[in-house]
Amino acid sequence: MLNRARNALFDRYLGISRLLAGQLDFNSIIKAVAEEVSHIIPHDHLDVCIKMVDGKYHIAYESGLETAWSKHPPALLTGSPIRTLLAGEVDYLLSADACSDPRFHFDGAFSSPIIELSLHSRLHVPLRVQGNVIGALSCSSRQSDCYTVEDVENARAVADLLAPYFFALRAAEQAKRSAVIETEASAREEGLRLGALKLTEALEAERQRIGMDLHDQTLADLTRLTRRMEKLRHDVTLPGDALEPLCRSLQQCMHDLRQIIEEAKPTVLQLFGVAEAIETHLERSVCESGQAIDWQMTDESGGALRDLDPTVSVALFRIAQEAINNAIRHGQSDRIMVRLGQADHALYIEVEDNGRGMGASNDGWSGHGIDNMKTRARLISARFEIGQRPFAAVSGGGTRVRVVLPINLPALTETV
Ligand SMILES: Nc1ncnc2c1ncn2[C@@H]1O[C@H](COP(=O)(O)OP(=O)(O)O)[C@@H](O)[C@H]1O
Ligand SMILES: [Mg+2]
Repeated sequence: MLNRARNALFDRYLGISRLLAGQLDFNSIIKAVAEEVSHIIPHDHLDVCIKMVDGKYHIAYESGLETAWSKHPPALLTGSPIRTLLAGEVDYLLSADACSDPRFHFDGAFSSPIIELSLHSRLHVPLRVQGNVIGALSCSSRQSDCYTVEDVENARAVADLLAPYFFALRAAEQAKRSAVIETEASAREEGLRLGALKLTEALEAERQRIGMDLHDQTLADLTRLTRRMEKLRHDVTLPGDALEPLCRSLQQCMHDLRQIIEEAKPTVLQLFGVAEAIETHLERSVCESGQAIDWQMTDESGGALRDLDPTVSVALFRIAQEAINNAIRHGQSDRIMVRLGQADHALYIEVEDNGRGMGASNDGWSGHGIDNMKTRARLISARFEIGQRPFAAVSGGGTRVRVVLPINLPALTETV
């Protein structure tokens, strides 16, 4: 007789075990097993309370009667009527009449559902995994005094069956939540990047507009002024040539202005692309520097730089432009090499000089040129590197700036 009862109980446990398989969330598990559990421990209400990973909050899932417990968002552990069990202070809780049991009703306790639904008999056992309490399994009946210590033992067996499932589910949900948070964070970052990119686009357009205004208005005005000054120089008899220095500074002013306009309007870039714009800038800058610099540019990008988005082209050109300017201005080199190429699903631009090197400079890191290059690279999701030229024979040995732009095209080596 006893054996048959044991076998029946064993079958119920197996039944619970089978029902657990394939359930992917807390509510489905509870709904699936509640009926089977009721054959072991008769109840009007069954609930499972799971502690959040932070150990401060808990969340309830229930079957049978609907109470405010499961409708509540995660609540503080300190307000739970079974807080002593969740904290591991007691091994189980058994109450003949929970409506009047002082253990469930303390200041700040969330125990109103016990009274509202007349849950008189209550029995609670912990859900344990690796010795830690991760939650509790609770059975309640509207009749008073219907649970015994034997029911507690049976509930423990059910709890032991459920606990590993709940543990795995909790970990999976936590991982899902972290993944969502991470995705949201990176989406925000991407949003910021795109916003900043739009801003630089607008700035670039504004810069070109200013360049055009300077050309059409200011430069034209200055030219007119110079002509009138020239006339004055010849018409008016002034002591010595008093107007001569004025004319010279006006010429200088116009020369500077032309340079600013030239920089503001990357026309070569717009008309012919990044490679040509870089080469033109390199040639002109070396020439205007008056330094004996031997320069060379090689383009092994296979024309891939031509197909870039205009914003990306402008950013790459501006980076190369500043790197070339720095090599001429600070490098004290007699050779500047620019390489454009393609490797490992990326385009790269390298500007290299054989000068004194970054470390040798004692004029401090004064300007914003390097910071701007970094920012421009970040905005187009490119990698930026600046440092000593590789394989430099002498100490100091020059500087190399390298910007690497990932592209989706297969590398040249793979297409052959
Ligand atoms: N190619 C280079 N060779 C030597 N020193 C360099 C080179 N590029 C940059 N530097 C050093 O880094 C500093 C910061 O450069 P940058 O941020 O472009 O500002 P700026 O050009 O206005 O000084 C320069 O002042 C210089 O000391
Ligand atoms: Mg600079």
